[in-house]
This record gives sequence, C-alpha cells and structure tokens, in this order.
Amino acid sequence: MIREMKETELSFAASLESLCFSTPWSEQSLRESFELDNNFFFIYELDGKPVGYIGLCVAADEGYIYNVAVLPDHRGKGVGKSLVSYVCERFSSLAFLTLEVRPSNTAAVALYSSLGFERVGVRRSYYRKPIEDALLLTKYFR
Ligand SMILES: CC(C)(COP(=O)(O)OP(=O)(O)OC[C@H]1O[C@@H](n2cnc3c(N)ncnc32)[C@H](O)[C@@H]1OP(=O)(O)O)[C@@H](O)C(=O)NCCC(=O)NCCS
Repeated sequence: MIREMKETELSFAASLESLCFSTPWSEQSLRESFELDNNFFFIYELDGKPVGYIGLCVAADEGYIYNVAVLPDHRGKGVGKSLVSYVCERFSSLAFLTLEVRPSNTAAVALYSSLGFERVGVRRSYYRKPIEDALLLTKYFR
C-alpha cells in the first residue's frame, strides 16, 4: 500500500538515497524538505515495511518530482511504477508534473515514458559523479 511518509521514516528515505544515488539527499536535507507545506513524501509499504519512496514539491499549479527510489531487492515488481502512478493521480489537478533523469537510467526513463511523461528538454552537464546531461520529462494534465 501507498501512504504518506512519517517523520520517523526520514532515516529510511536517507538510507535509500545513499543506496541509490551518487549525490544522495542527507537526512537533514530530507527533513528540511519534509517540514515544508508544499513538499510531499509517500512510502510504498510491503508486509508492514517501507520498500520505496517518492518525494515531490508543488508550487502554484506545477509539481516537481524530486526522486523515486525502491530497495534493490524489491525492484522489477511494479513498486516504482505504482508510486509514480499514485502521485500522477493524486496531483492530477495540477497543470503538469516534471522531473529530471539521467538518460543512462534506462529503467527510470522507461518507467516515466510508460506513464505519459514526455521529453521536453535537456539540461547540459546537470549531474555530477559522473557528469551527465539531464533529460527533462513532463507529464501534462491539461
Ligand atoms: C527506477 C526505479 C525507481 C524503478 O522502480 P521498480 O519498482 O524497479 O520499477 P517497476 O517494477 O515499477 O517497473 C516499472 C517500469 O519501469 C521500467 N523498468 C523497470 N526496471 C527496468 C529495467 N531494469 N530495465 C528497463 N526498464 C525497466 C519498465 O518500463 C517497467 O514497466 P514494465 O514492468 O511494464 O515493463 C528503481 O529501479 C530504482 O529505485 N532505481 C534507483 C533509483 C533511481 O534511479 N530512481 C530514479 C531517479 S529519477
């Protein structure tokens, strides 16, 4: 099931960040974001334990997905897609949802494309460790 993240799960989100990304969000950065009214974090819970998370912020009628991540042992079972689908439904009154992704991240690019995210631009050398462009993907609701 998907539900809102609890404050006590910030350490889970931080450890997942460290597992998944070369420039992970620290627990402190996550906490600062978590405390903002326009930031939202959701957990995918399986057998009572968190296995994935997604975070986004909303400004005016635009949504920006920070990250989605799933524990390695639970990948390829629909968890990531469920999290992104959930956010798309819950925030479908916005004009659009947008995000950046590494073009080399074929799993994430395929996931977003399958849910109707379109390539709208490229940010040159956006990422570090390693340096890579970012694809800018957007899903329009109107
Ligand atoms: C990207 C990520 C969140 C996907 O989560 P997941 O739970 O494994 O993905 P799902 O099982 O829901 O798969 C959804 C779709 O993604 C694509 N996909 C998932 N894994 C894939 C892989 N290894 N190769 C290619 N496509 C893949 C497929 O299109 C799949 O749809 P299908 O099952 O109908 O073919 C997960 O791999 C992850 O946590 N990666 C590390 C963190 C990360 O890179 N996050 C994205 C940052 S923008």
